[in-house]
Amino acid sequence: MATLRIALFNSKGGCGKTTLSWNLAMGLSRRGRTLLLDADPQGSTGHWADWADDGGEFAIEVRDLAPVGTEAESYRYLVYDCPPRWDMPEVIAVLQESDVVLVPVLPSPLDLWASRRSAELLRDMRAQRPALRPYFVLNQVEVHSALSRASKAAIAEMDIPVLAVQVGRRAIYRNAAVEGVSVYQTGKRGAAAVDEMERLIEEILK
Ligand SMILES: Nc1ncnc2c1ncn2[C@@H]1O[C@H](COP(=O)(O)OP(=O)(O)O)[C@@H](O)[C@H]1O
Ligand SMILES: [Mg+2]
Repeated sequence: MATLRIALFNSKGGCGKTTLSWNLAMGLSRRGRTLLLDADPQGSTGHWADWADDGGEFAIEVRDLAPVGTEAESYRYLVYDCPPRWDMPEVIAVLQESDVVLVPVLPSPLDLWASRRSAELLRDMRAQRPALRPYFVLNQVEVHSALSRASKAAIAEMDIPVLAVQVGRRAIYRNAAVEGVSVYQTGKRGAAAVDEMERLIEEILK
């Protein structure tokens, strides 16, 4: 089966690229061989690599971020955790070999507008390569909160579709990272987070 390459990209920091990369990679690893390309291997989440292979159900391979080229064929899924930059040749190269680009955004007008340069770059790339599928992913959404009219207007103007699945603001995402595990490895505490990761995965795989 063909390899699916998924990049987490937003030139804005703190929107959830790393959190979603690792948890999605873990969820994908149950479906097929998965390689995570890590923008920040020495950074605060570098220790996550320690549990990348827990000897059980979950096993992902982790490498420094770089385009993978034809070697990717031995993997079913590639997940690229991009640094908060849009102007780095390495980031551009990674986006150019991606099938799906997820742009995590916090559901506020200010955060959305802060992502407009990233959206513009993706629209240009999609115009060149219509098979590219960029999506916004609303992250850290408060339970029962509706998107404001200003947020909806910002999204509409940027002309990038939004995934139906929203990722909630949940302490378990932070706690799992602190414990050095994914939400898949936190038992009942992580059930709601796992459920939304699974729905997110199903939505991009369909
Ligand atoms: N859905 C969420 N619920 C709660 N905390 C989150 C969520 N997503 C991300 N965070 C927290 O927000 C911070 C920034 O997330 P991170 O994934 O590092 O963003 P980025 O990689 O885009 O800079 C981290 O402390 C992370 O634990
Ligand atoms: Mg990050």
